[in-house]
Amino acid sequence: MEDKKIIFSAVQPSGNITLGNYLGAIKNWVDLQADYHCCYSIVDEHSLTIRQDPVLLRKRTLDLLKIYIACGIDPVENILFIQSHVPAHAQLAWILNCYTYMGELSRMTQFKDKSQKHADNINAGLFTYPVLMAADILLYGADLVPVGKDQMQHIEITRDIALRFNSIYGDVFKIPEGFMPKAGAKIMSLTEPLKKMSKSDENPKAYISILDDFNIIAKKIKSAITDSEGVIEYRENDETKAGINNLLTIMSAVTGRRIEDIASDYQGKGYGDFKADVAEAVVEHIRPIRQKYDELSQDKAYLVDIYTRGAERANHIADKTLKKVYKKVGFIV
Ligand code: TRP
Repeated sequence: MEDKKIIFSAVQPSGNITLGNYLGAIKNWVDLQADYHCCYSIVDEHSLTIRQDPVLLRKRTLDLLKIYIACGIDPVENILFIQSHVPAHAQLAWILNCYTYMGELSRMTQFKDKSQKHADNINAGLFTYPVLMAADILLYGADLVPVGKDQMQHIEITRDIALRFNSIYGDVFKIPEGFMPKAGAKIMSLTEPLKKMSKSDENPKAYISILDDFNIIAKKIKSAITDSEGVIEYRENDETKAGINNLLTIMSAVTGRRIEDIASDYQGKGYGDFKADVAEAVVEHIRPIRQKYDELSQDKAYLVDIYTRGAERANHIADKTLKKVYKKVGFIV
């Protein structure tokens, strides 16, 4: 391999992929593939930390694979795979569990949030979730891990675990870095624009799914919460502008134009006109993705081929790392 750096990232197949996931993550992954060796995973094992309907989980896993490809991730140039197809993730996670402290894990804010939200199912997997994530990353010797801000703490713990392991056994793991691509737009909820747009939001009006009908997408944007000032202007720290800021961010992300330029086009115009244009721009941006997605849905054999080959390539790399770890800790290999 020439000296291109390695990128690892992943999304859970636990909900409808939103415009936020796409503009904040997957769209950037597409741009990164030219300059890095990229491994992009569909982390179904992570999804089990919250109860899933098995039929739906299977469907969403394939949907996500189709979405990756439809958005422009090249399945031949990059390694696209399903986490449960690569046993080394669970195997390494077990070992790393023994090098991770309860205290560290109890400081994870996502654990605290999720255990509040799912108080009836605070399972051990939810607690050790960051260790599985560490295994994902460390198996591939990733240099960079593009993630949102909410995952940075998990990257930190990954680094801590890897450094701890290396300090005992020598240079086993590459120490990865979290990386928030500058272009990554943070898209907020349409109904509560101070909250991140989330695929697990109970209110479907809060998010746009990449797979929503186009007229539903338009409706959701047109009913997005704004303010009563009637001025289309981006004001970063003004909470009352959060809704308008979000729509401007979305418009900018899908058109590639600067926020200021967009805002100046709408001077003296009303929110109704603006929202109608945002809706149209979003739909036009998603249209070719959906077309490709629909084509892929007709070709199950192709998808099986992609994930089978992805798993082969991922297993090849992951098994090498796992074997190294097995030797170090004293297993007979
Ligand atoms: N925890 C991440 C999320 O919920 C998903 C994830 C799992 C991940 N393993 C990863 C992201 C490894 C980056 C690298 O968004």
